[in-house]
Amino acid sequence: MPRRHLPTRPGTGPARAARPDTPPPVIRIRRLTKSYGHGDATVHALRGPDDPATGAPLGVDLDIEQGDYVAVMGSSGSGKSTLMNILGCLDVPTAGHYLLDGTDVGHLDEQQLALVRNRKIGFVFQSFNLVPRTTALAQVELPLAYAGVRAAERRRRALAALSLVGLDERAGHRPNELSGGQQQRVAVARALVTAPAMLLADEPTGNLDSRSTDEVLALIDGLNATGRTVVLITHEDEVARHAKRVLRLVDGAIVADVRRAPVDGPPPVPHRAEVPA
Ligand SMILES: Nc1ncnc2c1ncn2[C@@H]1O[C@H](COP(=O)(O)OP(=O)(O)OP(=O)(O)O)[C@@H](O)[C@H]1O
Ligand SMILES: [Mg+2]
Repeated sequence: MPRRHLPTRPGTGPARAARPDTPPPVIRIRRLTKSYGHGDATVHALRGPDDPATGAPLGVDLDIEQGDYVAVMGSSGSGKSTLMNILGCLDVPTAGHYLLDGTDVGHLDEQQLALVRNRKIGFVFQSFNLVPRTTALAQVELPLAYAGVRAAERRRRALAALSLVGLDERAGHRPNELSGGQQQRVAVARALVTAPAMLLADEPTGNLDSRSTDEVLALIDGLNATGRTVVLITHEDEVARHAKRVLRLVDGAIVADVRRAPVDGPPPVPHRAEVPA
């Protein structure tokens, strides 16, 4: 793409001053569009700004640095989940490029994409997406089983992840025996058990009460404080204030991009463990 567009478009602004030792962004998307349907019925779920000359969508540009904590906000239908599904390699763009850790994922086949999802990305969804009638321990072991980790090691790591989210005593419980907040903590344990570089969370607290919301956000803050890149979708300002950078989507375009805290510092809301009693 013409480089002259780069400095002026939200998403690619000076997230921080370039330094010689700055690693390349973990996420780089360029001119990315996603459309559904055809002809008059086409929905441009991601379109970016319009080309002033032709009116055609220019696509979305976005860089996310390693270790950043990014909240994506926007009203219903603005394209948040579409963006997250593409970032998570769960869906493919209509046009444009997505480089994850420097690899153009558009060139990968389905099997390679599954490997990328398993190795690099942890997912947390609004609806928990736990497997019914399956114990918390087995849920958390699942991504390790896909990765080919042996049974004893799987168990050890899954129990450690459940312990991290405060649920080691619930390891034998099934989803219908857990509260919503506990189910989401199992989902967080499942997302972190493979030690992914990036956590993607789509409205992770959307179905939780305020206490469970605080617990789950404290976990996500802690994951970012220990170096994980976090991309979190939310409707709520209270949730977005945990992030270091806030993007706002309107009709499939990034219209605002605000840095609230440095990429390489701690998340802006003090981690629970650091808050005096
Ligand atoms: N599979 C699909 N087929 C057709 N249109 C779709 C599909 N998925 C999403 N869309 C449309 O794309 C647009 C963006 O949807 P998306 O789910 O990304 O919104 P969102 O910002 O996540 O909204 P919400 O806050 O309600 O979850 C919407 O207009 C939606 O109707
Ligand atoms: Mg959505």
